[in-house]
Amino acid sequence: MQISETTTLEPLSEHHTEPVFNLIQQNREQLRIWLPWVENMNEITDFQNFLNGARQRVADKLAVAFFIRHEGKIAGNIGLYHIDHQNKIAAIGYWLGEKFQGKGIITIACRKITDFGFNELNLNRIELKCGTSNHKSQAIPERLGFTKEGILRQAELLNGNFHDLYLYSMLKQDWEKRL
Ligand SMILES: CC(C)(COP(=O)(O)OP(=O)(O)OC[C@H]1O[C@@H](n2cnc3c(N)ncnc32)[C@H](O)[C@@H]1OP(=O)(O)O)[C@@H](O)C(=O)NCCC(=O)NCCS
Repeated sequence: MQISETTTLEPLSEHHTEPVFNLIQQNREQLRIWLPWVENMNEITDFQNFLNGARQRVADKLAVAFFIRHEGKIAGNIGLYHIDHQNKIAAIGYWLGEKFQGKGIITIACRKITDFGFNELNLNRIELKCGTSNHKSQAIPERLGFTKEGILRQAELLNGNFHDLYLYSMLKQDWEKRL
């Protein structure tokens, strides 16, 4: 899926194993601050297993996930996770390698994936959770007009410590009003 002149979203595939694992390796120190799964991703086989699990969740319609390619290079990931078909809810997750940050890539990708969630998956509510001290991540839902609903206390275990998360959400009716 082309999301801008320079950036595409690619469905997860086996051929991403090596380039994505390399990107994680290069950005490990920054990513591990915010993403709990990085700690368990030490060997390429760990990532292979993780990717297989993620692809199975996509096949089971529990997630929609993409790797981001920017100017020909693998740059990061974005997806809709924990899809709850009964209540028509999903949660957005994302990350970028450091050298791909500061270009608006995730803001654009987030806008596209929110459109996709409401229009193609017929979701009613899209959530976005991020650490109360993760200011770069908070800027994304803020920029896109998500509503900050409150704080989920000690909702994430990161590097041995529990962290509070902000809960943001967008409703289909509010997203449509913005167009
Ligand atoms: C969270 C994360 C994805 C944010 O990356 P990011 O590059 O700041 O986000 P975007 O791609 O939307 O880019 C926004 C930046 O590009 C700039 N920008 C340039 N062109 C832009 C455009 N057309 N539209 C929006 N922003 C643009 C913005 O000013 C902003 O830069 P600033 O923070 O210096 O003001 C990144 O910091 C990351 O991967 N962190 C580690 C993992 C993580 O925290 N994941 C989220 C867990 S909840």
